[in-house]
Amino acid sequence: MNSALQTSPTAPHSPEMGELSPYQSGPALTHATLTQKGMALEWQDGQQTTLPLLWLRDHCACPACRHPQTRERLYLPLDPITEPPSVALTEGHLHLTWQDGHVSAFHSGWLYQRRPETALTSAVPKVAPWEDNFAPERIRHSDFLTPEGEKAWLTAMLRDGLALMTDGPLVEEEVSRLAERIGPLRATNFGARFDVRSKPNPNNAAYTAVGLPLHIDLPNWRQPPDIQLLYCLQNGATGGESLFADGARVVEALRQQDPAALAILSETPIDFRFQDETHDISMRAPVITLDSAGNLVEMRLNNWIRDALHLPVEQMEAWYSAYALLWKLFHSEGHQLEFTLLPGQMVAFDNRRVLHGRREFDPNSGARHLQGTYLDRDMLASRLRVLARNE
Ligand code: OGA
Ligand code: ZN
Ligand code: ZN
Repeated sequence: MNSALQTSPTAPHSPEMGELSPYQSGPALTHATLTQKGMALEWQDGQQTTLPLLWLRDHCACPACRHPQTRERLYLPLDPITEPPSVALTEGHLHLTWQDGHVSAFHSGWLYQRRPETALTSAVPKVAPWEDNFAPERIRHSDFLTPEGEKAWLTAMLRDGLALMTDGPLVEEEVSRLAERIGPLRATNFGARFDVRSKPNPNNAAYTAVGLPLHIDLPNWRQPPDIQLLYCLQNGATGGESLFADGARVVEALRQQDPAALAILSETPIDFRFQDETHDISMRAPVITLDSAGNLVEMRLNNWIRDALHLPVEQMEAWYSAYALLWKLFHSEGHQLEFTLLPGQMVAFDNRRVLHGRREFDPNSGARHLQGTYLDRDMLASRLRVLARNE
């Protein structure tokens, strides 16, 4: 330890780390000792870690190393640290003076949050596959406009992949206004905001009155929209009930029942394609994408914009039979959620996880009109982190 630094009157007592998320509440540091592996640290509650010196140098939060306005990193960690710094603990915070005279100060709570041994805390919930009799979170429109209600909606969306907003006004574009509170609308070839009603010259099954089996929208895009919002303005026609099923749950069921079928569907890219007079949008990707741990990354199931099956002939039969099993699982009663969307309600769901559909309706029995748009999942997580700053 360098005793000269310990008494330095210029050392800031509570280092400013350039973070908007709170870190100030962690315990104070009680020990900081240089070892062969780096800086061994111990906090008041007995927690310990050792951080490499280059890690500490890299995370210096002084205005030369981290831009004071953008909070972005300026320091580039290319040179190894060859000489240890001098070390001081001031009021439980770590102060280092490097060989070249550069001074770094670390808040003990900021370091505590970043101990490599513990998972980073996050305001964003983990995905929870639906369980039997899953009932969606319901948030009233007036609550959605408050930070608490918005947080409840965002949490349900990221955890369950679906949430229902109720008691909203029957006004056009309300879906865009609600979506814009979260982030910019994700535009597609159907526009940034689309109307779902039966139309005279439909370019999409959704714009007819036919039933739509479970699907995701736009699997023919490299990056299909993450979050879909459907706001109901009129639903007086007979039929037209909404259908949903959780891809995270169904993929688990498929893994249990037929792991070979899951392997085929997750390892065999197939083609998806949409064509009209002005577009020809095509993508080749598997129906199911899993991460290295086997968790669902995304579903691409939409039977009517599936393109010609271009596979080696000897793989075709097995692919069709795996597809049929997945289809059966999605459409089995135990996996489906069905309800009638009422005027003033908005259902929102993770388009790359939760499949949606609707029952056929009779356009002569009454009007059915939904307005829809899409959002990026990143913007939902971002809003949740921002709202969590004030907790
Ligand atoms: C869609 C869709 C569902 C509905 O527009 O993609 O699936 O209830 N609509 O009409
Ligand atoms: Zn610095
Ligand atoms: Zn759809």
